[in-house]
Amino acid sequence: MATPAPTSVPADDRDVVVKVEGLQKYFGKLHVLKGVDLEVRKGEVIVLIGPSGSGKSTFLRCLNFLEDPTTGDITIGGVHVMCGDHGKAFKQGVHEIRMKCGMVFQEFNLFPHKDATENVIEAPILVKGEKKDEAVKKAHELLTKVGLADRVDYFPSQLSGGQKQRVAIARALAMDPLLMLFDEPTSALDPELIGEVLKVMKELADGGMTMIVVSHEMGFARDVASRVVYMDEGYFIEQGPPDEVFFNPKDSRTRQFLRHILPEQDPRHAAELGITEAEGAAPAVAPDVPTAGGATGVQPLSGPPDDPNDLASRQ
Ligand SMILES: Nc1ncnc2c1ncn2[C@@H]1O[C@H](COP(=O)(O)OP(=O)(O)OP(=O)(O)O)[C@@H](O)[C@H]1O
Ligand SMILES: [Mg+2]
Repeated sequence: MATPAPTSVPADDRDVVVKVEGLQKYFGKLHVLKGVDLEVRKGEVIVLIGPSGSGKSTFLRCLNFLEDPTTGDITIGGVHVMCGDHGKAFKQGVHEIRMKCGMVFQEFNLFPHKDATENVIEAPILVKGEKKDEAVKKAHELLTKVGLADRVDYFPSQLSGGQKQRVAIARALAMDPLLMLFDEPTSALDPELIGEVLKVMKELADGGMTMIVVSHEMGFARDVASRVVYMDEGYFIEQGPPDEVFFNPKDSRTRQFLRHILPEQDPRHAAELGITEAEGAAPAVAPDVPTAGGATGVQPLSGPPDDPNDLASRQ
């Protein structure tokens, strides 16, 4: 079946930046995404959490077609792509969606032989055809925005991990993205450098950027996320405002992850939620920390039902 040409979404859906429907991904026989749905509105910050291997990176990478999704529909910024077809309209849609997404990876992926400015101007010049002097001016503005005004001519080898990651954020922003995707942007950093990157991400969120962030930085999630999505074994099991998901999880798998897996494997992040022992229960009362922007209530689930108690407690 041919993919229809990219179409515009109806006017009342205009503030929907991302709509994912029935997204599936196989790597050979390995079924990694098992039919996930997600809608993200302008300015929302989605934090995706879940155990290692649950499909978080694969989901992000499918969104901007770094991986080729097997089936499903992805609409970003009004551009709709029916996955699984590789015709002309599909390729055009993929190109348009890639232009709308900025992505930041755990490992920075900067060009080692280019300085910070050259890293930032590369894509705007090559992909968007921007003039070099304009691209450099914008790069300096963006590097200033991420706190690197005095490092514009430093090479990656001369920068700390936190500084490298901020260059990577500036580089993604240089393409004027509609949506920013972050895949564990702080997990390769020394603890003392994490805060400077999270601060830049929070400023971006405060400025209205729509973001999907894979991260177990629970303090960040509590402060900045509009919604936390819990992913397990290729399904979005549960999603809702951070305090709902963290302190009143509806599904037994979310509870198991937050109360046992996270404290065992990642005690520092569990401690940010007040969970310090693997055997301990989640705190009965959420500490009094406000959440940012547009809490949207608990969302429908796409995962398979687990035990009957959970089914009964779902909204
Ligand atoms: N390119 C690939 N080829 C084959 N299998 C892959 C590929 N990429 C990922 N996988 C598999 O898909 C599953 C999900 O991987 P993914 O990287 O999406 O998990 P994740 O939730 O991001 O995990 P982590 O928290 O460890 O980063 C894993 O079983 C992984 O081995
Ligand atoms: Mg990953």
